[in-house]
Amino acid sequence: MEKLVSGNFEAEVYSRETGVRDIIEDKLVNNSDREDSDDAFFIGDIGDLVAKQKKWLTHLPRVEPFYAVKCNPDPVILKVLAALKTGFDCASKAEIQAVLNLGVHPSRIIFANPCKQKSHIRFAAEKGVSMMTLDNEAELYKVKQIFPKPNWCYVMLTDDSSAQCQLGIKFGCHTKHTPFLLDKAKELELNVIGVSFHVGSGCRDARTFGEAIQDAKDTMDRGKRLGFQMNLLDIGGGYPGQASANIPFERFCEVINEALAEHFPPGCGTRIIAEPGRFYVASAFTLAVNVTTKRVVARDLQTFKVPESEDLVSNSVAPDRCEEPAFMYYVNDGVYGSFNCLLYDHATVEPALLKERDDCVPTFSTSIWGPSCDGLDRIMEHCLLPELEVGEWIVFQDMGAYTMCAGSEFNGFKRPICYYVIPETLVPVIQNLFPDDNTYACYTCKESTHLAPYSPTRAIPIARSPSIIDSDDFTLYSCSPPITVGAEF
Ligand SMILES: Cc1ncc(COP(=O)(O)O)c(C=O)c1O
Repeated sequence: MEKLVSGNFEAEVYSRETGVRDIIEDKLVNNSDREDSDDAFFIGDIGDLVAKQKKWLTHLPRVEPFYAVKCNPDPVILKVLAALKTGFDCASKAEIQAVLNLGVHPSRIIFANPCKQKSHIRFAAEKGVSMMTLDNEAELYKVKQIFPKPNWCYVMLTDDSSAQCQLGIKFGCHTKHTPFLLDKAKELELNVIGVSFHVGSGCRDARTFGEAIQDAKDTMDRGKRLGFQMNLLDIGGGYPGQASANIPFERFCEVINEALAEHFPPGCGTRIIAEPGRFYVASAFTLAVNVTTKRVVARDLQTFKVPESEDLVSNSVAPDRCEEPAFMYYVNDGVYGSFNCLLYDHATVEPALLKERDDCVPTFSTSIWGPSCDGLDRIMEHCLLPELEVGEWIVFQDMGAYTMCAGSEFNGFKRPICYYVIPETLVPVIQNLFPDDNTYACYTCKESTHLAPYSPTRAIPIARSPSIIDSDDFTLYSCSPPITVGAEF
């Protein structure tokens, strides 16, 4: 494969014919970046990220994206998004610093954590990050002391009962407390600039956006009556980012655009922003893990209907309870690492096999376990897979959101490294994104193997190819006009 090297990052360039499988297979051969060749690794597709930006701008042209850094603070992701002129939603001092380090203007940052540490507020003030969110009285007093004139965005509670991760149990001001909080802000002479809400991360009901936008309009009207400017609407995050999402992003956009047209029509003077996280990154990352150990168990043991006196290990050699064996596979990333999303993000993941099989091969009840010595470290309780061998690779797609950022090195297992790839059609776009960077060089890696064309015959497909960008028209990808806030508020 060819490599695009810039002062900002290195990425390998893939062609239209290349599939995820091909890239992973290449990395099994060209593995010198990994400490050990059987270490787990990510493939990060910058093409997919840039395609998401185009999708956002196409379907939500009135809504400025402020990427939620918490979702995946990978430096390459941040660099590309900064170059695409998105804004950023930061939750902490470190996130603000990471974004500022990329040369992002403070006006392109919203400090969107309603409950902030004092020193972080001080830091934001020093750096000129003045857009913040609030949802409680104590925060008003605290900020008044430290940073008397921030541009506050009031966080409204929404119905997030259908979301994958509910945030309303922790954040958001109930509408019955709105008058009190806005009055208090008035009394403290704070500058409330608008309303923010979050329908819950991984929203599963697009209609909640419609209802929330309507409620936000009511709250903004109330704020205006109190004399606040109220010309910012922040519709938060919650948009799907996986290729396999049940409700497509477009459906959310229909509801949002309709509600905006009704309550905030063009020309109304309200600036509309959002804080998408998983939308941008979920599908951009694919994780390949290695099967380190295999255990065969009787199927009735696998499903844990085991009498207390027996254990899995003593029955692991020769299954004798059930005609059909079940398999336990141990892989080298788990819930203490990238699969923490199973616990924290309530995610579900789907394994695919790198090694192809005929459709007719038998499948068996299978569980997949992480590498640590903790029984909690289970990735899949049950799935049907053909029999695997130790050393095989299992692939998980849609692994970019709330995965690598919250993983630990518990038990000494290192986090997987990431290989970044871009489609060849994106090279001109990347060169446009970093115009001041003169260090671009496109060269062929000497050790690279020829990538075999994608073969569609497999028992468990890794069907998707990385995104192909079909145009090098840079204007399709960049937030335009570039976001400039300070002037408006
Ligand atoms: C304040 C805030 N904004 C944005 C997001 C991003 O949400 P999502 O990844 O669902 O778009 C989150 C996620 O928890 C959040 O807490």
